[in-house]
Parts: sequence; C-alpha cells; structure tokens
Amino acid sequence: MKFFIDTADIGEIREAAAMGLVDGVTTNPTLIAKTGRKFRDVIEDICEIVSGPVSAEVVSIDYDGIMREARELSAIRPNIVVKVPLIPEGLKAVRSCTDAGINTNVTLCFSANQALLAAKAGATFISPFVGRIDDISDEGMDLIADILTIYDNYDFDTEVLVASVRHPVHVLQAARLGAHVATCPLSVLKQLAYHPLTDLGLKKFLADWEMVPK
Ligand code: E4P
Repeated sequence: MKFFIDTADIGEIREAAAMGLVDGVTTNPTLIAKTGRKFRDVIEDICEIVSGPVSAEVVSIDYDGIMREARELSAIRPNIVVKVPLIPEGLKAVRSCTDAGINTNVTLCFSANQALLAAKAGATFISPFVGRIDDISDEGMDLIADILTIYDNYDFDTEVLVASVRHPVHVLQAARLGAHVATCPLSVLKQLAYHPLTDLGLKKFLADWEMVPK
C-alpha cells in the first residue's frame, strides 16, 4: 500500500518524508491557498523533495482549458500527475492526457459509476473522497469496496487513491480492502504510529533500565 501525503505544506512533507511515509503527494486548490504562496512555486518545491507522483490540480472546467493546464503542469517535472475533476469535460481531457502520456488523478469522485468512467478514460488514479461521503451520513468505504471490485472485474490499471481521509480507521479499512493508495494529512500519518500501550511499555522499560547497574 502506498502512502501519499495530502498537503501543500513543505515543512509537513519534509517531516513525513523523514519517516519514510511519502510515496507521493496530493494537493488541491484549498491546500495550495493555505500556503499563501504561488501555485507553481509550491509544486516545484514539492518536486524537489518527492520523486513519487505529485498531484497538481487544474482549475479550468472546459476541455481546452484543462488540456492547456495539463500540458503546462506536466512540463514542470516528470513526476507531476495532473489532477482533473470528474466532469464530462474532465473525462474528455483525461482521455487526451492518457493518449499523450500525461498521468492523471481524477478527483471529486463520489460514485462507482464515476470511477468506472475514469478508468475507461485511462486515468492513472481515481480519488474517491471517503470523508466527505461519511460527512453526509453515507459509508465512504463502501464506495472504495465497489470500485475495487469493478476495477478487478475488468482488469483496469487505474489505481484507487483513497482521499478525504480523516482518521486512522479510514487507513485501516482502505488497507483491508486492498486500496492501492491512501492520501493522508500529516496528523493522520502520525496517529497511525500511536498506541497507548507502546508509550506505557516504553515508560516502564526506561524506568527499569535505571535500575540496571552501569
Ligand atoms: C486529495 O486528493 C483530496 O483533494 C483531499 O483528500 C480532500 O480532502 P478533504 O475532504 O478533507 O478536503
């Protein structure tokens, strides 16, 4: 299972990379806005740190605009993945990107049928937003299970990138289902390492060590 970090904060990316937990990075306009920096500068800085896939999202919603942005973004570094919204114009652009050898991450996916269309367009990654589905009292993880089944049925190569991850149980469920990638905020990556019995056990070991003659 690959772990991507869901942030545009360079400090957070460095911190997670030092723990060996950054196979890639996902960004979106909201995360870029939080940095207060220029989009291109942020993406270039991320690519200096991470050699795996770095998702950079387009803001155009028409085919020509998406393709123009896709060409510009993919020219920044070979590991850039162009993030495209799951709308008809986006799917058309994904097909052209696939044919042109540009990697894509289809975002804002909320149904299995949408994911099926993204795979047929040749998307590199599909990003179902589990947290936002949970937010409206539905089961985000059911969507991941459905997409994995459908992709497996037809041997699609598109990787399922579990997005909008809010807590460690999302990661556990994604791993049980065999999702290819989970993209997590740094806080969730850190929570994965935490266990109270680990802290308690360590405290006792260190206390006992003090009693060992030196
Ligand atoms: C990542 O690709 C998504 O844009 C991100 O996970 C969305 O997360 P949110 O629902 O917490 O904003």
